[in-house]
Amino acid sequence: MKSLICLFGAFIAAAVFQTGSCVETVIGLYGETIEVPCKIGSIKQDGLIFTKWKYVKDDGSPGDLLVKQAQKDEATVSATDSYKTRVSISANSSLLIAQGSLVDQRVFTCMAVSLTNLDEHSVELKVYKKPSHPVIKNKAKGLENGKLTQLGECVAESANPAADLIWMKNNQPLVDDGKTIIITSAITKDPVTALSSTSSRLQYTASKEDKESQFTCTAKHVLGPDQNSTSETFPIHYPTEKVSLHVVSQSPIREGDDVTLICKADGNPPPTSFKFNIKGKVTVMDKNNYTLTGVTRADTGVYKCSLPDNDVLESTQMVTVSFLDVSLTPTGKVLKKLGEKLEVSFEKNASTEAKVTWKKGDLTLDKLPDFSNLTYSDAGLYVCDVSIEGIKRSLSFELTVEGGPKILRLTKHRSNDGKHKILTCEAEGSPKPEVQWSVNGTTDESAYLDGKTTYKITVVPNRNLTVSCLVTSKLGQDTRDISVFSLYEEHKSKPEKNEGGMEQTKVIVGVLVGLFVAAALVGLIYWLYIKKTREGSWKTGEKETGTSEESKKLEENNHKADV
Ligand SMILES: *[C@@H]1O[C@H](CO)[C@@H](O)[C@H](O)[C@H]1NC(C)=O
Ligand SMILES: *[C@@H]1O[C@H](CO)[C@@H](O)[C@H](O)[C@H]1NC(C)=O
Ligand SMILES: *[C@@H]1O[C@H](CO)[C@@H](O)[C@H](O)[C@H]1NC(C)=O
Ligand SMILES: *[C@@H]1O[C@H](CO)[C@@H](O)[C@H](O)[C@H]1NC(C)=O
Ligand SMILES: *[C@@H]1O[C@H](CO)[C@@H](O)[C@H](O)[C@H]1NC(C)=O
Ligand SMILES: *[C@@H]1O[C@H](CO)[C@@H](O)[C@H](O)[C@H]1NC(C)=O
Ligand SMILES: *[C@@H]1O[C@H](CO)[C@@H](O)[C@H](O)[C@H]1NC(C)=O
Repeated sequence: MKSLICLFGAFIAAAVFQTGSCVETVIGLYGETIEVPCKIGSIKQDGLIFTKWKYVKDDGSPGDLLVKQAQKDEATVSATDSYKTRVSISANSSLLIAQGSLVDQRVFTCMAVSLTNLDEHSVELKVYKKPSHPVIKNKAKGLENGKLTQLGECVAESANPAADLIWMKNNQPLVDDGKTIIITSAITKDPVTALSSTSSRLQYTASKEDKESQFTCTAKHVLGPDQNSTSETFPIHYPTEKVSLHVVSQSPIREGDDVTLICKADGNPPPTSFKFNIKGKVTVMDKNNYTLTGVTRADTGVYKCSLPDNDVLESTQMVTVSFLDVSLTPTGKVLKKLGEKLEVSFEKNASTEAKVTWKKGDLTLDKLPDFSNLTYSDAGLYVCDVSIEGIKRSLSFELTVEGGPKILRLTKHRSNDGKHKILTCEAEGSPKPEVQWSVNGTTDESAYLDGKTTYKITVVPNRNLTVSCLVTSKLGQDTRDISVFSLYEEHKSKPEKNEGGMEQTKVIVGVLVGLFVAAALVGLIYWLYIKKTREGSWKTGEKETGTSEESKKLEENNHKADV
């Protein structure tokens, strides 16, 4: 048909032919008014009678469209079919076809008839339409790693001519290799509009790296720039190759803690159920975690996890629950009597070696003191700190050593200025005894330490006195007396004799004793001499007795000599 027109055209007139094609082709846009030009040079010559547009019907028969008389403004439409309402002619004799569609793809011929000439020019009309935006349909939920999977189907609809679809991965075209990438395209025509829809199905073999890959589909068409579909990513599915059990808890795990076991599988999508082996007891969970609340030392053991359908992949963890048991007897307040015995028993049982520290008050002790004979200084708060990593326990007892009041010493001395006498009463007892002096004076007392207190009274005796120190507590009392001589008298009669005079007294006594012994020795030697000369036996008793008697007397003197 085309060649026939071509021959006809060449024979009849000097139509302008395009290289490689005998009939000029004009492209019109679908749905718009298409202009089919009439390229006849003589058309503007004088003597033009009329211009006529005709076409070749589908059955090959000729059909008239319209005629325009040169001297008339309006053209006469002679078409009776669908062209009747759609055709018109422009000032430069182009045929205008409204609402172009694919039925308009045919050969149109314009004919110019003048007095001297009849020219014809044929044009083949193509009606093109851009495809709709390409869309990826039937998308896969995920791609199987290493397995050919249908990724999706790209569709670009209602085009003429049909669009070409190209699949892209990360902006690089994918090429069908018949094995790992298979692209199947199909074109369908709409029975009414005769427009073509192109579809392209991509089967793709993904690898794990394709997790990030962007897949798009591009539609190429003669009418214009490439159109891209939205880009899609696909999760890559692969089976689990490794499971790992994680223990989530405080470290170290202590009794009472909550411990969560998390079983991680590297497959995608992750498995939906997991098998936990809790010290030999198997539980299948429909989640990847298992929580043990308030663990005890009995929960220490080997824990495993695997997949219900695959025991080969397994992960094992040792869970150790730390514990620290301590016991101390006694605890709390302990009341003992002076000289009594206190037995302390301390026991510990821990998951690891425990560190034990004893403290008395702020003082750290190397070990607990020997409490077999309690003294006042043993009293105090004893604290035992026991710890292992993460656990610390503290136990304590507070020891009180009780004893009745007891005066240890009662002494006196003269003040440095010689105007007062100071009496000192040293006493012990717990609870702390109260002191009572039998005379008035300025009193003072030392701090109560280790059951002992030193009480003092400063007096100015204007006569000879017997002063008593009385110490009392709820547990009893003790008293002691001391003689204090009048300062006034003393000054008068023996001004040089003061408390320091005791030393002088001792020296005097020493000299006296020395003289006495010397005299005795002389006597003895004399006696021995007599005895020897008499050749008789001898006794020592007399002399020893004599000596001890003398000593006793001296000692008594010594005491009485006290100021
Ligand atoms: C005819 O005229 C229209 C404007 O009226 C113009 O767009 C078109 O290009 C002309 N056609 C030819 C073949 O000269
Ligand atoms: C379509 O994709 C290609 C490469 O895939 C890109 O060069 C082009 O700019 C894109 N076009 C549009 C309109 O996004
Ligand atoms: C345990 O798994 C469930 C279900 O997957 C989840 O909702 C929960 O947050 C998980 N718990 C922990 C501690 O991971
Ligand atoms: C210490 O505790 C463990 C665990 O409860 C127990 O088996 C063991 O008998 C205890 N040892 C002592 C000495 O109490
Ligand atoms: C306890 O100690 C006191 C003073 O040190 C002592 O007099 C007493 O004999 C001791 N008792 C025992 C049973 O050792
Ligand atoms: C001690 O002084 C008070 C008054 O201050 C007095 O009543 C009391 O008799 C005096 N006691 C002695 C023993 O002198
Ligand atoms: C005090 O005692 C001393 C020694 O016993 C004695 O010499 C003196 O006369 C006495 N003084 C009074 C005032 O009693």
